[in-house]
Amino acid sequence: MLWIKNVNLVDPTQGLSGVRDVVVRDGIISAIQERLQEQDVLAVLGTARIEEVQQIDGSGKYLFSGLIDVHVHLREPGQEDKEDIRSGSRAAVRGGFTSILAMANTSPVIDQRALVEFVRIQGQRAGMARVYPIAAVTKGFKGLELVEMMDMRDGGAVGFSDDGKGIQNAEMMRLALEYAKLTGCPIISHCEDNDLAGNGVMRRGEESARLGLRGIPASAESVMVARDVLLAGETGGKIHIAHVSTKESVQIIRAAKNIGIDVTAEVNPHHLLLTDKDVTLTGTSFKVNPPLPSMEDQEALLQGLADGTIDMLATDHAPHTWEEKAKPFAEAPFGINALETALAAVWQGLVVKGLLSPEQVVKLWSLNPARRFGLAGGTIQVGSAADMVLFDPLYKEMITAESLESKAQNTPFLGKEMQGFPVMTWVNGELLMENRKILDRK
Ligand code: DOR
Ligand code: ZN
Repeated sequence: MLWIKNVNLVDPTQGLSGVRDVVVRDGIISAIQERLQEQDVLAVLGTARIEEVQQIDGSGKYLFSGLIDVHVHLREPGQEDKEDIRSGSRAAVRGGFTSILAMANTSPVIDQRALVEFVRIQGQRAGMARVYPIAAVTKGFKGLELVEMMDMRDGGAVGFSDDGKGIQNAEMMRLALEYAKLTGCPIISHCEDNDLAGNGVMRRGEESARLGLRGIPASAESVMVARDVLLAGETGGKIHIAHVSTKESVQIIRAAKNIGIDVTAEVNPHHLLLTDKDVTLTGTSFKVNPPLPSMEDQEALLQGLADGTIDMLATDHAPHTWEEKAKPFAEAPFGINALETALAAVWQGLVVKGLLSPEQVVKLWSLNPARRFGLAGGTIQVGSAADMVLFDPLYKEMITAESLESKAQNTPFLGKEMQGFPVMTWVNGELLMENRKILDRK
């Protein structure tokens, strides 16, 4: 039993943003009111003993519905040297995420029902964030043959994606959208045309020329965004565009929404906060796919967030080992480790600067993801499951290898102090993180 007092409760579903007390019983939100008295709390909880109630002073802090990250790479099965479901879901809880969607580019890829069930059960076993599997679209990520979508959905998949690779064949994507309709799940598209992307390692432009690195043109993404929204329009399937990073992609998605196509889109914090100007030859933690955008693209992404063209934030948490990231820039793998730093980065880089409100953060990182993928959470209302995060905008922390729950350290923030962190995370009313430490269960 839990009583959080005087906390700044942000819940866009109720248009609520103000100081409230919140009471939780048996994992369910039981009361939300201004300044509750002890006898009222005891009445709500049906107990006479205040000692049974954990009391938390929320003054100066925010209470958000648990963040939901629709784009996470957990690397299990097969690449457990980078991350596993346990370490990744612990990192999630430490970052304020109560639900995560696990991408299918593992080894083997998640293209059979037994593998979907494996990811789901490993997630339950870890007992941290809720882990929802994303199944592959094509067998073996080969782009040639669709997986058994219904079977995968029945095994627990909440979406389909060959993320890590673009689906090159347009007819394959059209078929995937057609079949996915029957499952009710969206296709998450990693939009990348392999021929245009070539062997590029960063965004093509002045900066790539200066560094002498092979560039990936913005069109490698945008042409596929255009193709996929058109196919979604034609089939009536649901498309979700992963990691939007170019101005043209934003323009296309905006136009598609205007004509009623069922498209949603996500943007990653690193694309909002870093640009191709941050890339250096030794800075492989800045190597990510899609690559860091130009300033002009970044402005378009922020505009897209502001006007609702982009529906959600997602980390694209992509852990890699130190050895892999120690390679020369051109050879190192793409990816940024993000679960434990993303909220602090967004808070400091966007909210404090007035570019995003706390209400928008909750909408973009909790409510909208829950709605699009049909998940529990996304709200703090009486009767809803207590997936919540207590956020302290003043909490400062140095990001170090030791402090991270993730196995990997490939973050541009390593060795830096950040401010604004979750200090408590509950899943289903159970406190799983307190003062930046995971509470190990017996
Ligand atoms: O940077 C990335 N890393 N982008 C992707 O699309 C895949 C991901 C990974 O799996 O490492
Ligand atoms: Zn991707």
